Amino acid sequence: MTGRFSVTVCTSADEERMLAVQEIVRGLTAEPKTLSPKFLYHEEGSGLFDEITHLEEYYPTRIERSLLDGFGAGIVHDVQPHEIVELGPGNSAKSGTLLGPALQTGTLKRYIPFDISESAVREGARALFDMYPDLGEIAAVVGDFERHLPAIPDPQGTRLIAFLGSTIGNLHPAERSRFLEEVRALMPRTEDALLVGADLVKDTRIIEAAYNDARGITALFNLNSLKAVNDLLGTEIDISLFRHYAFFNAEHSRIEMHLQAEADVAFTLPATGDVVRVQAGETIWTESSYKFTRDSFAGALHDAGFGNVRWFTDPDEMFALVLARP
Ligand code: AVJ
Repeated sequence: MTGRFSVTVCTSADEERMLAVQEIVRGLTAEPKTLSPKFLYHEEGSGLFDEITHLEEYYPTRIERSLLDGFGAGIVHDVQPHEIVELGPGNSAKSGTLLGPALQTGTLKRYIPFDISESAVREGARALFDMYPDLGEIAAVVGDFERHLPAIPDPQGTRLIAFLGSTIGNLHPAERSRFLEEVRALMPRTEDALLVGADLVKDTRIIEAAYNDARGITALFNLNSLKAVNDLLGTEIDISLFRHYAFFNAEHSRIEMHLQAEADVAFTLPATGDVVRVQAGETIWTESSYKFTRDSFAGALHDAGFGNVRWFTDPDEMFALVLARP
């Protein structure tokens, strides 16, 4: 016997593809040229990201995992959630650290994975029901966390919302505020809690090494977003003319990843016949990964209507799990 499963689908692969094409054209014809970080994960990109998470230099995944192993059960025992909403769990392979203890406390009734991939949440649900026979209900939502958060069903008790992996770092300040306000609106009870994984400001050399690994996997990951452009738009961009470039922008407290043209590059957008020109030395900005201080993160939470904030970090304060309540 397994629990109940339902899935609310807010968007389809076709709709996402259509929006992606529009977004890419807008970004490549803008000044400066940009590409959304979501294209990094196109096809082989997901596997490359997985490889990144195992790199010596890439500390965030490893430290977040150890923080979850060390503090996850205590956090869950403290919150006593009736339901866990997880934003961007993919196939939920890592969700057990929170779900296991939540089932043990006996409070958990429902798990709500919210992800852009319908196949991932379906696979994840099957695996979770196998692993946790006591899990009563999975109510999945398939959507984009920048557009479809309001589709998350109304709470049926104390709610723990998890947003892990330091994905929040990809959002620029205005997007981040909007996102946090929307999440806050999903948490009507004072006992509700948000658990976010956030990467912290540290020695620039450590941060920059994490995005310039010696084996060049991050470079391949970055360059892969041009493959996404070629696949989605039918362009014929010569990827060998670009190089990976990542640096810490201290003024904005973010890693910026760019693809820098090593020669003048021109390519045609088949849909309109427009020609995009990238001059030698010019870059296409593919990702921002913001790094926070305790103050900057607490400030963002406070501005979005969160009050009670607790910190769980490693001894070197490299990375934080932040627990925030309304
Ligand atoms: C998945 C967004 C947290 O910003 O560190 C890894 C993605 N980019 N290496 C990050 C990423 C380059 C990653 N996040």
